[in-house]
Amino acid sequence: MLLIIRKDHRSICLYAAQQIAAEIRQKPHCVLGLATGSTPLGVYRELIRIHKKEGLDFSQVQTFNLDEYVNLPKDHNQSYYYFMKKYFFDHINIHPFSIHIPDGMAEDIETECLRYEEQILEAGGIDLQLLGIGSNGHIAFNEPFSSLGSRTRIKTLTEKTRRDNARYFASMKDVPKYAITMGVGTIMDSRKLILMATGQRKASAIKTTVEGPITARVPATIVQIHPYATILIDRVAASKLTQALKIAE
Ligand code: PGA
Repeated sequence: MLLIIRKDHRSICLYAAQQIAAEIRQKPHCVLGLATGSTPLGVYRELIRIHKKEGLDFSQVQTFNLDEYVNLPKDHNQSYYYFMKKYFFDHINIHPFSIHIPDGMAEDIETECLRYEEQILEAGGIDLQLLGIGSNGHIAFNEPFSSLGSRTRIKTLTEKTRRDNARYFASMKDVPKYAITMGVGTIMDSRKLILMATGQRKASAIKTTVEGPITARVPATIVQIHPYATILIDRVAASKLTQALKIAE
């Protein structure tokens, strides 16, 4: 596990974008795993800049998003489909058919989850997966006590996650209760992982993820056994680490 501590959100976003750009340059047909949330927004902004200014080419890239709310139409301004289009896909030269996001409106959710797993396999697996982390240690919507071997499936969101995400909705009752999410096992199959976190709200989850025992109580702790995982955090998110080797900028 490589731990990288940078001074602020902007610098970690620039670092992550550089890693993704390098992956695309080295393997133009690479498969990227993408995340939503406030943390990766700056990564997408920087990748758009690199695309526009330096010609980074997404024409052969395929993407798979980690998760999507259930029962939120694609054109709802809080669906992850809407988020990805607005903040990333509408500004780069990716083919629409290369974009994969679970369909939270599917009539048969179980079949949709199986289909998603198959599509990842057919694409040759995910080369580089970008990850955020919840303040409760979730990765994607794998909430505490998710099976560490789980695959793509429907999950019930915890009250804490719903409260964390309520800021994006008109009221708490509008926050979806369910989501389709890649499983912990699905995420761990990615060839490389970059887990990003910033701010005080994430400091405890980061301490457990980096220094704690591996436990389904904090699903992110599983990244400790990933052969190629980078934990990319700012100084504030790193503030509770006591033992981990700190690699300063
Ligand atoms: P955030 O969400 O980037 O908005 O903090 C991360 C997550 O919940 O996985």
